[in-house]
Amino acid sequence: MRFTLFTFNTPIVTFAFMAEDLNIITSADKVEQYSSLIPQIEALITGEPDLVANLANISAALKEQFKWFWVGFYLVRDNALVLGPFQGPVACTRIAYGKGVCGAAWQQAQTLIVPDVESFPGHIACSSLSRSEIVVPVFRLGKVVAVLDVDSEELDQFDETDAQYLEQIVKLINFNA
Ligand code: SME
Repeated sequence: MRFTLFTFNTPIVTFAFMAEDLNIITSADKVEQYSSLIPQIEALITGEPDLVANLANISAALKEQFKWFWVGFYLVRDNALVLGPFQGPVACTRIAYGKGVCGAAWQQAQTLIVPDVESFPGHIACSSLSRSEIVVPVFRLGKVVAVLDVDSEELDQFDETDAQYLEQIVKLINFNA
C-alpha cells in the first residue's frame, strides 16, 4: 500500500499590518506631546474595527510618549469594571461601581484628577508606587462603557490639559466594535 503525502505549495501570503513606528517627541510641553500623539493614535486605530486591538494600541502609544507608570482601560461588564488592555505592572482585575477612583469616575460619569492618591478616600492601590492618577470615562450613547486610567509615580502629574486631551483621545474609540 502506498501513501501519498500531498503538500500544498501555495505561496503563503502575508499581510503587513504594521503601523509606522510611533514618533515620540521629547518636548516637555504637554500640549506639544498630545498634539503630536493624537494624529498618530487616529492613524493607528482608523480602519481597525477590533476594540481590544485599538485599546491596546492607545495604551501603548500613551505609555511610550509619556512614560507614565500605568496606562490602561477598565471595561464596564455588568456591575463591575473589569481590567482591559493596559501597559504597566499587573493590576486589580475588578473594581466595583463607585469604588476607587475608577469606580467613582464611572459613577459620576466625569473625569477625576487625583493629585495625591493617599488623599482620595477609597483609592484602590493596585501598586504602592502609584502617587497620582487621572481617570477618564469613555461614553457610548450617553452611558459610561469603560474608563481610561493613568497612574504616575510622581505626585500631581495630571491637570486640566491632560483631562481635555485624554477626553479627546477616548472619543476616537469606536465602542460599537
Ligand atoms: N487606583 C485605581 C485602581 C486601578 S489601578 O490604579 C491600575 C482606583 O483607585 O480605582
